[in-house]
Amino acid sequence: MKILVTGGAGYIGSHFVKFMNNGDNEITVIDNLSRGYKQAIPKNVKFFHIGIEEYDKLISILQNNNFDVVVHFAAYAYVGESVEKPDIYYENNVIGSYKLIKAAAVSGIKKFVFSSTCSVYGNPVNIPISEEQYPIPINPYAKSKLIIESMLKDFESSHGMNYISLRYFNAAGCDFEGSIGESHNPEPHLIPNVLLASLGKKKLYIYGNDYPTPDGTCIRDYVHVVDLSEAHYKAIKLLNKENKSYIINLGSGRGYSNLEILRVSEEIAKTRIPFTFSERRKGDPAILIADIKKAAELLNWKPKYNLYDIITTAYLWLKNPKY
Ligand SMILES: NC(=O)c1ccc[n+]([C@@H]2O[C@H](COP(=O)([O-])OP(=O)(O)OC[C@H]3O[C@@H](n4cnc5c(N)ncnc54)[C@H](O)[C@@H]3O)[C@@H](O)[C@H]2O)c1
Repeated sequence: MKILVTGGAGYIGSHFVKFMNNGDNEITVIDNLSRGYKQAIPKNVKFFHIGIEEYDKLISILQNNNFDVVVHFAAYAYVGESVEKPDIYYENNVIGSYKLIKAAAVSGIKKFVFSSTCSVYGNPVNIPISEEQYPIPINPYAKSKLIIESMLKDFESSHGMNYISLRYFNAAGCDFEGSIGESHNPEPHLIPNVLLASLGKKKLYIYGNDYPTPDGTCIRDYVHVVDLSEAHYKAIKLLNKENKSYIINLGSGRGYSNLEILRVSEEIAKTRIPFTFSERRKGDPAILIADIKKAAELLNWKPKYNLYDIITTAYLWLKNPKY
């Protein structure tokens, strides 16, 4: 397959590229490297250092290659930053994605896979969260993703470009060989932050210990980035099989509290990890767990890796990050 990957120099995109770079596929990455790393892109993968908002360049790339599918990871993805700077989220995510979607649609692309997020659900009404739950996003990042989903629906109607929007819960873990990994700056995610604290590289804060959960800390659903990559591959297979569009949750279907993450990390890092409880963050729901039945039914996908694999591979990377 010929695959165009946006954001392929970032955390999840680079793992997907590595997963698909197996000799069977021809992969092209576009990334403006605003939050990604050129070293994360394999040498045999064609790379264009451009932004998704650069319409004319996109058109020329799309029209000079006969891509079977576009897989769109490129975005800004920090909830807190989006509250402080909504403008850059609407500009980069919404306007950028609009340019990309339009360029793909007018170039005759018929298959599109999109990185969406569980944060579109806002404060969930039921746990686990199924795709039936009405999305009420509560921050500009999540709103930007929901707008893009709705644009995709419109371009499906107008241009017959089918899409699968994958609503990830918490992507975590790294490549099993330790050759690529998660290097966000600043790092907003709990698992790398816990492990960076274990290595003495960062102070760890746990936000809130009075949630209505068994140990008082938030519960989240973590899914290994290699499992996510496989789910994207299976989404492309589904698009190849059916002329239909879908919205599908990707998670593990189980939740771990912040303190459980800390304990498993202590076991893996073989050290006590110091931390401080701090105030709850605004807009952090107590529990987010995915209902992953739809992914199992439609994609025939279930995560293979558990929390130990997630933390072990994240630790492997963080002890010796290459970028
Ligand atoms: N990390 C998670 O847990 C998580 C959860 C839900 C959804 N997502 C979504 O998954 C996708 C990937 O997330 P990630 O954690 O790998 O993020 P990341 O920041 O590591 O990767 C994003 C990549 O996109 C690139 N990029 C950003 N704006 C661009 C633009 N205008 N043009 C070209 N390239 C651009 C960045 O340089 C970076 O390489 C994002 O769309 C994010 O919203 C991530």
